[in-house]
Amino acid sequence: MAGPPRFPDLSPVELVGRIERAPKAELHVHIEGTLEPELAFAIGRRNDIALPYESPGAMRQAYAFSDLQSFLDIYYAAAAVLRTEEDFFEMAWAYLQKAQADNVVRAEIFFDPQTHTARGVAFETVVQGLGRALERARRELGISAALIMCFLRHLSEREAFETLEQAEPFGDAFLGVGLDSGERGNPPEKFRGVFARCRRLGLHVVAHAGEEGPPASIIGALDALGAERIDHGVRCLEDPGVVTRLVRERIPLTVCPLSNVKLRVFERLADHSLPRLLAAGLRASVHSDDPAYFSGYVNHNLVESCTALRLTTSDAYTLLRNSLESSFLEPSEIARHVERLNGVFGT
Ligand code: HPA
Ligand code: ZN
Repeated sequence: MAGPPRFPDLSPVELVGRIERAPKAELHVHIEGTLEPELAFAIGRRNDIALPYESPGAMRQAYAFSDLQSFLDIYYAAAAVLRTEEDFFEMAWAYLQKAQADNVVRAEIFFDPQTHTARGVAFETVVQGLGRALERARRELGISAALIMCFLRHLSEREAFETLEQAEPFGDAFLGVGLDSGERGNPPEKFRGVFARCRRLGLHVVAHAGEEGPPASIIGALDALGAERIDHGVRCLEDPGVVTRLVRERIPLTVCPLSNVKLRVFERLADHSLPRLLAAGLRASVHSDDPAYFSGYVNHNLVESCTALRLTTSDAYTLLRNSLESSFLEPSEIARHVERLNGVFGT
């Protein structure tokens, strides 16, 4: 089988231009993680819900995290301003405009319904607000976007089943399910039953694994949940057997380099394992996770990673192509976008 095309290295400035112009898929973004402090304050004022910060600037200053949990505490607290369908619409519409500026042609967007239903917001309010923004993005921005409903792994499987029951009448509103929140102490096996039901319903399955959790949690996501993609997965390199399996089965890893640095998975971006993932033949792509908190959307993640890790032009192309090919789009759609990507890289 022919490998991906190889390219002579472009100058750094030229490479940045190609990355920015390239069509790409955003496959790992949490919509609640796109809520910028300015919008959080505006929505909070409208709903008479105070944030525990003096100003958007003070809120941003609090974004110094020691690990995943220290981030999640702030992230769930900020989401408390979201109440009405309009709030969810505005948050998603603001994100999708940024995505278009980054030449995102496909966005498969996580949402955390349990964060909202626990506060008394109706499931319907969340999906209708988000859905309206996605529909407008398709019409006005030319972005194909879809939702992936995540279960919070710090909650019980029973609660995940209850959420799935609430979601079933809106089954057309999302294309798959995922698993997020604190990985430590919450292995994939805890959710075996509810993911089996999701698969029977014909939903795609993805799961966060191997971010803070060990390589065994990646195997759990594949075997206990039937995950088709692994979100993060960067700790796979600690177990060569896991790497071999991920390569053999061509399992995509949606890697979020700036998130990994902010949450201290790697001390510095220059230490990130992305080049080693690519060298091992893993199907990695680059995404933004919670861009309002981790100081950058997808293009920023790509450009900063290429610079700090001295990635080659071929590496950058591979990451972009993997993003498109790892999406749940129809093969003909993927082929159309890859052709455009090839045009940008001059193949
Ligand atoms: N990991 C787990 N859960 C999350 C994340 C993450 O990086 N971002 C938002 N929820
Ligand atoms: Zn994530």
